[in-house]
Amino acid sequence: MSVSNKIMGAFEKASWVRKMFEEGAIRKKKYGSENVFDFSLGNPNLAPPLKFSNLLKQLISEDTPQIHGYMPNAGFVETRQAVADYLRKQHNLPFAPEDIVMTVGAAGALNVVLKSILNPGDEVIIPRPYFVEYNFYLDNFGGIPKTVDTGPEFSLDLSLIEKAIDSNTKAVLINNPNNPTGKVYEKDQINQLGELLTRYNQKYGKVIYLISDEPYSKIILNGTECPSVLNAYKESFLVTSFSKDLSLAGERIGYIAVNPLIAEKKIIQDALTLCNRILGYVNAPALMQRLVPSLLLDCVDVTLYKKKRDMLTEGLKEAGYDFTIPDGAFYLFPKSPIPNDVEFVNALQEENILTVPGSAFLGPGHFRIAYCVEDETIERALPGFARTIKRFARH
Ligand SMILES: Cc1ncc(COP(=O)(O)O)c(C=O)c1O
Repeated sequence: MSVSNKIMGAFEKASWVRKMFEEGAIRKKKYGSENVFDFSLGNPNLAPPLKFSNLLKQLISEDTPQIHGYMPNAGFVETRQAVADYLRKQHNLPFAPEDIVMTVGAAGALNVVLKSILNPGDEVIIPRPYFVEYNFYLDNFGGIPKTVDTGPEFSLDLSLIEKAIDSNTKAVLINNPNNPTGKVYEKDQINQLGELLTRYNQKYGKVIYLISDEPYSKIILNGTECPSVLNAYKESFLVTSFSKDLSLAGERIGYIAVNPLIAEKKIIQDALTLCNRILGYVNAPALMQRLVPSLLLDCVDVTLYKKKRDMLTEGLKEAGYDFTIPDGAFYLFPKSPIPNDVEFVNALQEENILTVPGSAFLGPGHFRIAYCVEDETIERALPGFARTIKRFARH
């Protein structure tokens, strides 16, 4: 066998994403891409802000020496200073450049954090449904996912998290706002989670880290804010990127913010910097790092995602779908009208509507619609959504 057994197994586990991609390609060829309604990927359709392209043009026209060269593994100090200044205001915490590591997106950031803290066999508690790439990231370093159900409307179930904690727990990993549900956790819940972990640190005499993955933190659709994990708990990492809020997913730029009040700060900072290097990232992309200081307060026009959400939820409600209205990100996670979500997603495919079964996120009985698509795609797909649910209502 040419590839490792583990990777052969990973092909199997990642089969949903591959299947949707392959199915989409076949259908687009057969029916024309304008007639296939692809809601399968979280690839933002909005263009990055004009300011981004103007700054990029200006930057490359300046002919700065060494502009494409290596830099310190954690990133340019000016970039990290700017991120630290931004976070200091956001969280009212004494951030310094040393607390920031610039990374290859949020995915790179998560891998760097996990490599830094995990010993093989360490468990990481994750509320489900969740972005299942986490399983691969954990497995990269011998970590074991321990998943727990969420409560009403996908809120955190703190009692289930508490039950899952034992002496093998190394971290709790949350994603706020959540992919695939669009849930934004409430501040009270985040604070209670912080209190819970503090209690268990004392009980076990060791630290349980809280990692919050927040690439959608600026995409909030209900007028609230993404609550601060850093204020709720000292032993925490905030992981984020500009993939979604600036539509720069392909440019691979993000960062890790280590809580300035974390206990073993210096060794953690050193570990993150080393891991960024030895995972082969070496450093985050140089040009993007140069632009970050000017873009920290910018975001795509979130009202456009809200409009898409409203158009989709109104249409689906009328058709008879059951769902919780998402507060953030650009995903809707409706209940499948039949228990078998895979069967339902296959039925939608017959209408050339591509979605992902909830099972792929450990949320069976649901399916995910990534509505970061053109308004017209939503509008034209709604009749197909309506026909599909009707087909099953008749049985
Ligand atoms: C929850 C979540 N975390 C992390 C990522 C990866 O983000 P990035 O492109 O910044 O690596 C994604 C991408 O879809 C995501 O949905």
